[in-house]
Amino acid sequence: MKSLSYSKSNGQYPLTPVTNPWMIDIMAETDLVKKLIKNYKSPVNLHHIPSFEHNIDSFQEVFKKYNIDSRIYFARKANKSKSLVKAALDFEIGVDTASFNELEQSIKLGANSEYLVLTAAIKTSEMLKLAIQNNVVIIIDNHDELKLTQKIAKELNIIALIGIRLSGFIVAGKKLYSRFGFDIEGERSRLKLWFSQKSEFPNILLKGLHFHLDGYSIVQRAEAILQTLQFVDELKACGCNITFLDIGGGILVNYLESKKEWEDFQTGLQLAVLEEKPPLTFKNNGLGFKIAETGNSIEGNLKTYPYFNEINGPEFLEQILTYTKDSNPPVHELLNERNIQLRIEPGRSLLNGVGLTIATVAHRKQDANGTWLVGLEMNMSQLKSSSADFLVDPYIIYQNSESDIGSVELFFTGAYCLEQDILLKRKLSFPKLPDIGDFVVFVNTGGYMMHFYETEAHLFELSTNLYIQEAKDNEPLQILADDSISNI
Ligand SMILES: Cc1ncc(COP(=O)(O)O)c(C=O)c1O
Repeated sequence: MKSLSYSKSNGQYPLTPVTNPWMIDIMAETDLVKKLIKNYKSPVNLHHIPSFEHNIDSFQEVFKKYNIDSRIYFARKANKSKSLVKAALDFEIGVDTASFNELEQSIKLGANSEYLVLTAAIKTSEMLKLAIQNNVVIIIDNHDELKLTQKIAKELNIIALIGIRLSGFIVAGKKLYSRFGFDIEGERSRLKLWFSQKSEFPNILLKGLHFHLDGYSIVQRAEAILQTLQFVDELKACGCNITFLDIGGGILVNYLESKKEWEDFQTGLQLAVLEEKPPLTFKNNGLGFKIAETGNSIEGNLKTYPYFNEINGPEFLEQILTYTKDSNPPVHELLNERNIQLRIEPGRSLLNGVGLTIATVAHRKQDANGTWLVGLEMNMSQLKSSSADFLVDPYIIYQNSESDIGSVELFFTGAYCLEQDILLKRKLSFPKLPDIGDFVVFVNTGGYMMHFYETEAHLFELSTNLYIQEAKDNEPLQILADDSISNI
C-alpha cells in the first residue's frame, strides 16, 4: 500500500538533496521499507544498479563525442558492494582495486586482466604476486615497490605490467605536493634511464603513466595531463612506448539542488559561529569556520566536501578534455595524436544517485538544554564523511501519527559510546517528532559515506548491503542482498 508520509528536513537553512526518482519511490513504499528493515535489520544500504549504469553511460558519451580511446575503472574503494563490481563488469568497464581482497574478489567475480588495475597505496608481496600472475597492471608508487615487483616477476618468470604514478606537477607556478608517486621533475632522469635501458628491471614492462590529484580542480588535472604528455614524448624518444594515461578520480559530484541554499547555509553558519544567530550545528561546531583572534570576524574555511557544484560529472570530464593552453590543440587532440588511451578511475562520481541508507528510530529524548536527540539504530561509522560533515538533508518516513510534537528541531544520535556520535552535525528541522520505529533516510550515501569508515566497535554487525535491479514492466522491484552474490 502506497503512503506519502515521508518528509525532508526543512529548517531555516535547508540543504535540499538532488534525488533520483528511485529514492522517492522507495520512501513512498513504507511497507517495503518496513519489510527490508525487518529482514535485514537497521541500518540497510540500498544501491540502485540502473543509476550506476546511467553514470557509466554519461562518461562514455563524453569520450565518444571526442572520439577518444578510453577506459573507465570503477574505484571500488568508494563502496564495498560486490553488486557494483559485477555491474561494472557487465557494463564493460574495469575496476580499480586498492587491496589484496579487492583485487582477489574482482578476479573471482569474473574480471579479466584488461579490466583491472591495482593502485593500492601499500603493496604487499602477496598482492603483487596475485596481480603479476593475473597480468593486472600495477600502478607503481616508488622505487622500493618497483624493485619488489621486479623480484617477484623474476621468481615467477613473468613480465609484470606496470604504470608509473607521477606527482609534483607545477600549476600556476606552484608545485602540487603529494605523498604519492614519483616526482615528475626530480625522478625524471631515473625513470627515463630505467625504462629505456631495461637492464635494471628486465621483468617489467612500462605500459602507462598515472596520477591521481587531491582536490577537485579541472585546471590542475588538465595541466597535469599536458606535463605527463610531454614526459610521454621524452620516453618515446628513448624507445619506451607509453600506451595509456590514467588520470585517477576526483570528478566532482553535485549533491544539492540549490546554489542559493548552499551559499545561505555558509553565511548562516558564520553568523552562528559569531553568535549573531542561534547555532546551526551541534555545540555550534563551525565545520572549519572559527572566530578570528580579533573577536569580531570569521577565519578559516568550510572543511567539508563542496556539496554544491555546477560543473560536475560528465561536464567536469569534458572540461578537462577540451582544455587548451596557449595556442596548442585541446587535450583530447593531444591524446589522439599520440594514440594514448585515456583511463579514469571514478569512485564517487560513478556512485552519484546510486545509494541510500535507512535506519530505525530507537528513542527520543531532550538533553539538559531541551534539545531533541533522536537515537537511531546505527552508529557514526555507518554514515561518516572524510570531511567535517555530510551536508545533505535527510528524510523521515513517518509510520503513524502518534507523536503530537510538531515542528521540531533535532539531532540524530548513534550507538557508539562516544559523546561525538552525532550522525549529522547540522541541526535538522522536521514537521513533527518521529515515533519509535519510524525510519530515517539519508540519500546519496553510496560514495564513501556508508562503508569507508565503517567499524565493528562494540561488536555491532556491519550494515547490510542490498541492490536493486532494473524493474521489468509491471513487475515488483527486485531487491537482493549483496551477500547472495557468490564470489567463489
Ligand atoms: C588512485 C585513486 N584513484 C581513484 C580514486 C577515486 O577517487 P574519486 O572517488 O574521487 O573519484 C582515488 C581516491 O582516493 C584514488 O586514490
